[in-house]
Amino acid sequence: MFSTKICCIGAGYVGGPTMAMIAKKCPNVRVEVVDINADRIAAWNSDQLPVYEPGLDEIVSEARGTNLFFTTGVEAAIKHADIIFVSVNTPTKTYGLGANRAADLRFVESVARVIAENADESKIIVEKSTIPVRTAEAIRSILETSGSGHAHQVLSNPEFLAEGTAVSDLENPDRILIGGETTPEGQVAIERLAGVYGAWVPQERIIRTNLWSSELAKLVANAFLAQRISSINSISALCEATEADVDEVANAIGTDSRIGPKFLKASVGFGGSCFQKDVLNLVYLCGHFGLPEVAEYWESVITMNQWQKKRFADSVVQAFFNTVSNKRLAVLGFAFKKDTNDTRETPAIDVCKQLFEEQASLAIYDPKVETDKIYRDLAVSEDEPRLEVCDSAADAVNGANAILIITEWDEFKALDFEALYDSMVKPAWIFDGRNLLDHAKLRMIGFKVRSIGKPLK
Ligand SMILES: NC(=O)c1ccc[n+]([C@@H]2O[C@H](COP(=O)([O-])OP(=O)(O)OC[C@H]3O[C@@H](n4cnc5c(N)ncnc54)[C@H](O)[C@@H]3O)[C@@H](O)[C@H]2O)c1
Repeated sequence: MFSTKICCIGAGYVGGPTMAMIAKKCPNVRVEVVDINADRIAAWNSDQLPVYEPGLDEIVSEARGTNLFFTTGVEAAIKHADIIFVSVNTPTKTYGLGANRAADLRFVESVARVIAENADESKIIVEKSTIPVRTAEAIRSILETSGSGHAHQVLSNPEFLAEGTAVSDLENPDRILIGGETTPEGQVAIERLAGVYGAWVPQERIIRTNLWSSELAKLVANAFLAQRISSINSISALCEATEADVDEVANAIGTDSRIGPKFLKASVGFGGSCFQKDVLNLVYLCGHFGLPEVAEYWESVITMNQWQKKRFADSVVQAFFNTVSNKRLAVLGFAFKKDTNDTRETPAIDVCKQLFEEQASLAIYDPKVETDKIYRDLAVSEDEPRLEVCDSAADAVNGANAILIITEWDEFKALDFEALYDSMVKPAWIFDGRNLLDHAKLRMIGFKVRSIGKPLK
């Protein structure tokens, strides 16, 4: 009944949404998403999906049980599948050789071993995880050790979706990148996968490359994106010193078609599970391949991001004459960007930790992030009196000395700032880490306002 059977190992922020989109667009393909985390699989099978993305609930509920399945049966799914996606996490290594830089490939490696043990015929294995260049070689060598004699094909098909817009990114991707071996068998495998995406992506948007170009292109894409944010953030500091306005500068340069307008928004800093780890991975690879100057160049992208987060927290402390001890600070937004519940590497963690060390009391509100995640991320116990997680922005702001905008959630733009102002200790401050709000209007209400890359008034 099904023309192709796909299995995806890893039911995370990438595996879940990507496979849901394939199932939606390809009714003749059977898609099984498997994970060793039984709680996560149970959540995918419930009404409360483990990943928040606008539009995702509808797609999952439409296909689930028809041609989309979530299970913990990793071995069985491997046996049945023609195409196996590997979409497990690849965090930064925290120990031993390459610690704090190199990617930790133990999850990818263990998946390769499970595939080698359970694949009883030739399979197409697709690297969906972001991995260092030449990882396919390592996967291939593990597969060969199984001695089964099956000639598996390994493809690289990195994912470019952005959290918060995953559904529209998957539905209408700028491009699909598929890297494979240049042998005839490799080309056949590439075309088989291109055929799946071809159900909804025009062929001219499917880029075919060799394996190493595809693996490296994903790291380079994230490095370029992170670099743009660090570049505009570096300029935001210069704007504050010179009374230039970073949004005006960004607009002026972004209208140059060679530069373009996207990713020129100054902020408290970038976060998310990918940018930092992928840039660090690139730095590690450059060092490994004897290119220290290149490594140093890319490392500065991370240094600038760390500095921007610290600069923001410092500006809060300085506004209160160098002490926020016992000041109530309302932190609005904890996710690393709007429209996601993901807090991995969110700037909120660094900013909150720094202010907490300065003995501030923090009242945090985020529309989607779960309360226990916030306590866990900040490594603070739930009975700590200086940390409160609130159910609304108004609750967090009530009695506060300052509002800190950390995430650009749309609902923050629509808050009743006059009422918030009335509920605060005076002088009432707003530190807008996303340049989200109408600062002139806030000043009219009586707020003292600091923002990123804007003249100090
Ligand atoms: N999150 C993003 O926006 C994004 C975008 C593009 C690419 N990526 C890349 O995609 C990959 C996955 O990212 P994610 O955000 O989905 O990670 P995630 O942590 O949300 O999900 C990974 C899942 O893999 C599972 N897993 C680990 N080992 C397993 C095993 N041996 N068998 C079965 N399941 C196993 C984990 O339990 C987890 O649920 C990473 O390499 C990441 O860099 C992420």
